Amino acid sequence: MSEQEKQELIRRALDARKKAYAPYSHFQVGAALVTEDGSLYQGGNIENASYGATCCAERTAVFQAVCDGKRRIKALAVAGGMEGTEPADYAYPCGICRQVLQEFAAADMVLIVARSVTDYREYSLEELLPYGFGGESIK
Ligand code: THU
Repeated sequence: MSEQEKQELIRRALDARKKAYAPYSHFQVGAALVTEDGSLYQGGNIENASYGATCCAERTAVFQAVCDGKRRIKALAVAGGMEGTEPADYAYPCGICRQVLQEFAAADMVLIVARSVTDYREYSLEELLPYGFGGESIK
């Protein structure tokens, strides 16, 4: 992935963050991902008065892709922070989202955790979820 492509994906994550529904935590997260065929999907966190029913931004984006028949994610960018502010820190995917990504990640998926278009960190899924449990574990 080129630097320009990464920055574009972060821009899309920051855009998706604007539509996050987070009236309880006021922590707004946006995610954007690109699938193996080059399709783009976005998502924001969607909270619920019954807190446990909340869906994280990453999973919102992943589920949009899967619903559209795209099951291999090449790269995902995520950015989060308190509403009304730019992300103050890197918002790392939670454990559940890491597990969901394990299911649909391309072998070399790039995970980008961004504070801004130019300030970001990059990881492999293996770094964020070592010894992960996947489909091959139950064959
Ligand atoms: N959140 C995400 O959207 N992604 C993560 O990986 C971590 C947490 C959301 C869930 C909740 O709406 C808010 O951030 C505070 O936990």
